[in-house]
This record gives sequence, structure tokens and C-alpha cells, in this order.
Amino acid sequence: MAMRRPLIMGNWKMHGSLADNAVLLAGIRDGTARLRGQPELAVCVPFVYLAQAQMALADSVISWGAQDVSVHEKGAYTGEISGAMLADFGCRWVLCGHSERRALHGEGSALVAAKAAGALAAGLTPVVCVGETLSDREAGETECVVGDQLDPVLALGADALSRLVIAYEPVWAIGTGRSATPEQAQEVHALIRASLARHGASATRILYGGSVKPDNAAALFAQDDIDGALIGGASLQADSFLGIAAAVS
Ligand code: PGA
Repeated sequence: MAMRRPLIMGNWKMHGSLADNAVLLAGIRDGTARLRGQPELAVCVPFVYLAQAQMALADSVISWGAQDVSVHEKGAYTGEISGAMLADFGCRWVLCGHSERRALHGEGSALVAAKAAGALAAGLTPVVCVGETLSDREAGETECVVGDQLDPVLALGADALSRLVIAYEPVWAIGTGRSATPEQAQEVHALIRASLARHGASATRILYGGSVKPDNAAALFAQDDIDGALIGGASLQADSFLGIAAAVS
């Protein structure tokens, strides 16, 4: 069996301030020394705080990244941020196709896959987010919807797939306090794992996201195909973020 190192990643979304971030970043740094397991830790912060994250985390075991990236390399794209710019600030990661960007900014799966390819070319590791809505699930269309979201990513090929991360985030579980059960999550993770394997990538990490908290993390991480978490709300406090990281055994 391939070894997949657990990855615990915060998604701050549009939260934070220089003052609040200083406390949070220092708290996470200080807490990592007490972690027994060896999960990889990362935070995805708003663009304007990348320099702050870089300063605060540069000589730590915690890596950092952004929450979106332009599909373009450079040019007349007012307001956009390129992969090269993210790399310039030491980013290791970038979220691609978070459900909030799909729903609120009209990002389709082809664009998301193109962003992931561009991120890889810039030396970043894309974390491609997929997940169904509540109505998709109730209509029995979870597998189909997630499959469609994944298809253009799978088409990037085995080399790309082995260098990226997938995050399964059911939309109905995000920010709702209603996490998927470990069994519900595992079922979809297993489908994603099988698709990746069919495309030659058997060691790609698959994170679960959606109301992950310190008290539900261990049961999720106990599932065979859950390799870590993408954490929104609970990543905004050092103790809850570290509490989730501590649930990796
Ligand atoms: P949540 O967000 O942990 O607050 O549910 C997860 C995400 O959107 O990445």
C-alpha cells in the first residue's frame, strides 16, 4: 500500500486581519511541537496576507498557500493573481475550484482543471475541490456530479494527478456544522480513489472538508481513503486547528 502522509490544511476564506493572523500563526507554530503524529500542516490565507504568512512560518514545519489562482500566466487581467506570483511568496499550495468559487464566481470544472494545470506549471501543488450539493445528494446524483467535476482533472494525466491533492467537500457540509458521516465521506473517497487509480495515480492524497472539528476528526481520519482535512471555520483558532491535527494517529 502506498504511504500517504496525512495533510491538515486550513482554509481561512475571507477572514483575518494583520493583528488576528499574528496571534493565530504564532499559536499554530507553538502548538506543532506538541503534536505526536506527523501530519503535514498548511494554511491557505487571503492573498494580501501571504507575505505575513511567509514571514511568520518561513522557518517552521507549516507551509502556506492561496485560495485561488488565475488561469492566465500574466497580462491584462485586472485583479487577478498568477501562479508565479504565489510562488514568489513561497506558496506551496493553492485551492482550485472551492465550492464557493464554483457557486459564487461561476467557475466550471474545465476552468478549475486548467487552473490546476497552471498551478502545477508554476511549481505549486493544487488542491482541487469537488463535492455535491444537498439536492444532488437527495437526487442520488453524488457519484455523477463528483465524477463530472473530476473528469477534466483526470484528463490532465497520471503525472499531474500524482502531484496534486483532491479535496472532497460536500457543499451541504460546509460551514453548516453538519459534517458528512465517516461512512458517507469514505464512500465518495473510495470512488475518487478508484478513478485516480484507473488514471495511474494511486498515491494521490484525498482530503475531506465540511464541518471538520476536533471531536469528529478522528473518526473521519480512521477511514481508509481519507488522508486529511480541509478546514474552514475550525482553522481560525489555533486550538481547534491543532486539535484536528492531533486526531491524526
Ligand atoms: P468548514 O469549511 O470547515 O467551515 O465547513 C470547509 C471549507 O469550505 O473548506
